[in-house]
Amino acid sequence: MNNTNHTIYPNVLASIGNTPMVQLMNLCPEFNLNIYGKMEAFNPGGSIKDRTAKNILMDAIKKGQINKDTTIVESSSGNMAVGLAQTCLMYGLKLIVVVDPLINQHTLKILKAYGAKIEKVTTQENGSYLNARLNKVDHLLKTVENSFWPNQYANHANPEAHYSTMREITEALDNQVDYLFAATSTCGTIMGCAEYVKQHSLNTKIVAVDAMGSVIFDQAPGKRLIPGHGAGRPSQLIDKSCIDEVMHITDKECVEGCHQLLQREAILAGGSSGAVVSALQKLAPTLPTNANCALILCDRGERYLDTIYSPEWLNQHFPESSELTKPQTLSYQWA
Ligand SMILES: Cc1ncc(COP(=O)(O)O)c(C=O)c1O
Repeated sequence: MNNTNHTIYPNVLASIGNTPMVQLMNLCPEFNLNIYGKMEAFNPGGSIKDRTAKNILMDAIKKGQINKDTTIVESSSGNMAVGLAQTCLMYGLKLIVVVDPLINQHTLKILKAYGAKIEKVTTQENGSYLNARLNKVDHLLKTVENSFWPNQYANHANPEAHYSTMREITEALDNQVDYLFAATSTCGTIMGCAEYVKQHSLNTKIVAVDAMGSVIFDQAPGKRLIPGHGAGRPSQLIDKSCIDEVMHITDKECVEGCHQLLQREAILAGGSSGAVVSALQKLAPTLPTNANCALILCDRGERYLDTIYSPEWLNQHFPESSELTKPQTLSYQWA
């Protein structure tokens, strides 16, 4: 793919999308597969959620649900909040982000830097912070005049944002995408990609990569350490008939996948990227020779430096994986 891009964008939001595709030569060298990573960390806010946040707000502006005086209210402790903060700042919209005590401190600083107002719930309700956050959103929507909830778990402008994610992947690979690996939470990414595949009658097999302990695909809820993929509530956007394979990845496999991506491809990515790498490696022995596999790598690794990439954290949670951080030799071919 020719990634030379000399476009001058009218503003930072216009530079969202058209992220690079990178060939991943070293992930599964024992199998004859063509593996590509869609580098969503290249979005200006650092993740795939820039696309979602922008599309949801643009859609609401078009529909007249938002005007210049609207306050956006959302419950998110991660990439969606950052994406919203970026788009809200650009449009001069007020934003209240409802978070809980588990929020990553670096993300909190990013949100404050973008000017978002933070409302922190401090106690769990009906056994979870998620319920407490949603109740707080409900309260804010009732009490803050002219407020709007993007509601990414049910808003169809969420999957719609990822129609172009799949179009970019498909065009980069000349319509030959045999397998797409996408991590799931709201299921906006995977459903937008699946919709594109269906509408263009492509033969792409869609592999959903979920976290062990996530309830999206009818598993019992369980404790999860890594934020990003997985969900504690069902998605209202998913159509399971569009998904060919579901893979549940443990926290340990997810962490191992992140370190392989780093050590074998020099890519410092977030947790869900490690999950898709692990899913690919599990499925690889069953895939046909020369299959084109596209992996959506959703965000960058900086916000995981105190967890996935911290030797102390690794030692605390996965002492048996202490070898993970040892550098490996990349197979770069010097001239
Ligand atoms: C890092 C990361 N990976 C994967 C996902 C899942 O994407 P989606 O909500 O579109 O299913 C998210 C969602 O926030 C995320 O932040």
